[in-house]
Amino acid sequence: MTTKAIRGTQDILPGQVEIWQRVEESARRTFALYGFQEMRTPIFEHTAVFLKTTGESTDIVQKQMYRFTDMGGNDLTLRPEGTPPVIRAYLEHQLGQGRSIERYYYIGPMFRYERPQQGRYRQFHQIGVEVLGTESAHLDAEVIEMVMRWLRDLGVRDLRLLINTVADEPSRVAYRKALVRAQAGHLDELCSDCHRRHRENPLRVFDCKVDTCQPVIAQLPSIHDYLSDTSASHFERLREVLGSWGMDYEIDPRMVRGLDYYRETVFEITSGALGAQDSLVGGGRYDGLVAQMGGREVPGVGFAAGIERIVLAMGGQPEATAADVFVVAFDDSTVSAVHTIVHQLRAAGVRALCAAYDGRSKKAQGSAARRSRAPWQLVVGPDEVQSDRYTLRRLADDRRLECSGEALVSTALSLANEPAANPTGSESRNDG
Ligand code: HAM
Repeated sequence: MTTKAIRGTQDILPGQVEIWQRVEESARRTFALYGFQEMRTPIFEHTAVFLKTTGESTDIVQKQMYRFTDMGGNDLTLRPEGTPPVIRAYLEHQLGQGRSIERYYYIGPMFRYERPQQGRYRQFHQIGVEVLGTESAHLDAEVIEMVMRWLRDLGVRDLRLLINTVADEPSRVAYRKALVRAQAGHLDELCSDCHRRHRENPLRVFDCKVDTCQPVIAQLPSIHDYLSDTSASHFERLREVLGSWGMDYEIDPRMVRGLDYYRETVFEITSGALGAQDSLVGGGRYDGLVAQMGGREVPGVGFAAGIERIVLAMGGQPEATAADVFVVAFDDSTVSAVHTIVHQLRAAGVRALCAAYDGRSKKAQGSAARRSRAPWQLVVGPDEVQSDRYTLRRLADDRRLECSGEALVSTALSLANEPAANPTGSESRNDG
């Protein structure tokens, strides 16, 4: 019997995983520049952590949670997102003392029972950040600028930054009334999910993807006509700061984001390099959420980026190599010498591999060398051992470097540290 991975999950195999590591390392590097520290929370939580926060009327809570009862009778859920768990941990460990501003990031798997397709999975991975302790629009701009810089550094093409406001509570009360009135006249044109949304939380109608609902949604009033002075000036301030930093953005007045906790700023970043699932990053401000989870009134803002989508948007990255140098034994008499050389190279920090095991032929070792994609090869035969002269050969362009046994490690080390091989004609040189 062969067992397959669960639908909507994937194995990240060698060759791919190196791109993931690059994405993660680059996030860690960039976020550290802005004073963020990593937080790791469990992948499952008491279901209550998500119900009122992510929101009972959202698609995530209604349809997508991996919710189960464990053998102790606890109602648990595999985390569908990272924001409520981070705040749960922040409160549990009393992390926000005084007026401190806390900046966290997290990297890990999330789980949503969605219909899988390219870019949409049931287990996916997010890199997210949360900043707790300030309601300044400067911070909204700061996290937006940070994530844009990170994605650009990674080489993600065709980025679009979309911003909007979902305003404060007084604005939303007025807006909700207007929405209910506007939707009520068109209920027969809306799907059954929208009927429920209309009853429970009319703002959520904007999450609907059903084609036949779109004409009605396009006619609904805009939140921008209902903004309180506070919300209008918060949004204005955000625009000013983004503008003063020379950042391009578009306002999407209908973007509400599919989570209930947002207040004021919301934003998304899309990439033209992706298909239908083009949202790479989603985020926004969630003032009120910490208090709702039992803490003080601590404002917050954050975002999460989907790693699978970033990797897709990065497109044809070169496949990773398993080694810098592959050492091949010409025959049985040099197997020990090969293992000694591999050992010395590794000790010096060169990624080295060989396949001189179980009597493998030179040809079989050569195939293993090609599979490893190691750019450099060193064939060790009796002549090399006897003369103590070795030749490192770059496979891409047949560049050859000859050196003594003594200089072998230092030569290989400098090659390993060279920028990626640039096969521009062959050269032959004597070193050492
Ligand atoms: P979200 O928009 O639900 O926000 O997810 C953020 C990102 O996660 C999306 O833009 C997408 O890249 C990725 N993503 C979401 N669902 C899937 C899926 N099924 N398959 C693949 N990728 C997916 C949040 O999760 C909020 N917690 C973000 C946040 C943090 N807001 C404030 N702080």
